[in-house]
Amino acid sequence: MVDKNMGKDTDTEFDAYAKDYNRSLQYGLRASGEMPDYFAEYKVSYLIRRLEIGPDSRILDFGCGVGNLSRALRRLIPGISVDGYDPSMASLEQISPDARGTGRFTSNLADLNTDYDIAVLAGVLHHIRPEKRAATLVDASSRLCPGGSLVVFEHNPLNPLTRHTVDTCPFDKDAILLKSAETRNLMAATGLILVQRDYIVFFPRVFSALRSLEPALGWCPLGGQYAVLGTRKR
Ligand SMILES: C[S@@+](CC[C@H](N)C(=O)[O-])C[C@H]1O[C@@H](n2cnc3c(N)ncnc32)[C@H](O)[C@@H]1O
Repeated sequence: MVDKNMGKDTDTEFDAYAKDYNRSLQYGLRASGEMPDYFAEYKVSYLIRRLEIGPDSRILDFGCGVGNLSRALRRLIPGISVDGYDPSMASLEQISPDARGTGRFTSNLADLNTDYDIAVLAGVLHHIRPEKRAATLVDASSRLCPGGSLVVFEHNPLNPLTRHTVDTCPFDKDAILLKSAETRNLMAATGLILVQRDYIVFFPRVFSALRSLEPALGWCPLGGQYAVLGTRKR
C-alpha cells in the first residue's frame, strides 16, 4: 500500500491555507464569538503580565504564519522589534506591513539571530508530528540569549469547545493536540528551566463579563488554551 504522506513535507502544508488563513480561522473560532485578533492580543497581554517585555525586547515569533501575533505585539507594544520564522513561504507573503515593521520574516533558520529575549510558539506544536517537536523546540530555544524565555501557547485538549473548534477548522484537520504536561516534558527535555504553566482563555464572548477572573484561573485545567514558559540556562 502506498503511504500518501510518504515524502510529504508537512512543514509547508500551510502554503495551501495561507491566502484564506484568517477567514478559515474565523470560521473555526465562531463558537467563541471572537475574531482572530482577540486571541492574538490575549496572548500579548499574557506576555506583558508574565514577562519583562517592552519596546527594547527582541522577540522571535517562531511559526509566525501570516503574522497575527507579530501584528498584535507591534500594536500593543509600540516600538518593539519582532522577527518571524515559518517554513510556509506562502504564509510569510501574507504578512502585512504593520505586522512586519522593520522585522525580518524568513523561512530560513540561518537568517535568524541568536540573541532573542523571548521566542514564542503560538499554536505551532500541534501542527508538528510528535517525533519532530523536540527538534523544533531546540531550533527555537537555541535562538535565545542566555536567560531568555521560550513561551509555548497551545490549544487545551481537555476543553470541549477547543476540541470542537479544532474539529471544524479547515487547517486543523491533521492537528494532534498535546496536553500541557506533554509540552512541559518536551520543554524540560530541551534543557529549558520550567517557570510557569497557565491555563488561559476561559470565557466565550457571551460571558465576557467574567473575563476579569481569568488571570486568577491559571491553575484550572479547563481553559481553552494554555501557556508554558521556560528559560534558557545562563
Ligand atoms: C496554526 S498556525 C499559527 C500561526 C501563528 N503562530 C499564529 O498564532 O497566528 C501554525 C503555523 O506553524 C507553522 N509550522 C509548521 N511546522 C513548523 C515548524 N516545524 N517550525 C515552525 N513553524 C512550523 C505553520 O506553517 C503555520 O504557519
